[in-house]
Amino acid sequence: MNEAQQNLLQEATRAAELAYAPYSRFRVGAAVLTPGGVFSGANIETASTNLGICAERAALTHARMRGEQKIVGIAVSCPDVRPNEDGVDDEYGAMPCGACRQWLAELAPSAWVVTSTSDKVYLLEDLLPCAFKLHMDNSS
Ligand code: THU
Repeated sequence: MNEAQQNLLQEATRAAELAYAPYSRFRVGAAVLTPGGVFSGANIETASTNLGICAERAALTHARMRGEQKIVGIAVSCPDVRPNEDGVDDEYGAMPCGACRQWLAELAPSAWVVTSTSDKVYLLEDLLPCAFKLHMDNSS
């Protein structure tokens, strides 16, 4: 992970403090890097299970609403990841969920992805190969 990626991860960790996760008690923060700046998001849950929003999708929405359409990279931070039986943090404990990967495939297809549970830099195309795309016929 390079310095820019580490800085973005710090921003994601700050965003996690704004999470509203009273049900899962699993706070997630995300930050996206765009040519126009950094935009963050956090997970927001509701008492009606499944109606929450993930941090990654909140951050992508934030960037879009500020007019940013190019996403260079995204950082995800999960301060509540617990160590597994071996006492080590799960390296996949902060990876974007499947729904967020589908959003990223559409809105940030060339983005790199860094997380708080690994030093690795992932590419979206590796996290969701063969992503579904809707090919619209706009000719009529
Ligand atoms: N969560 C995220 O914010 N991003 C993910 O990629 C995975 C899961 C949130 C959803 C829910 O509020 C909490 O983590 C526990 O699943």
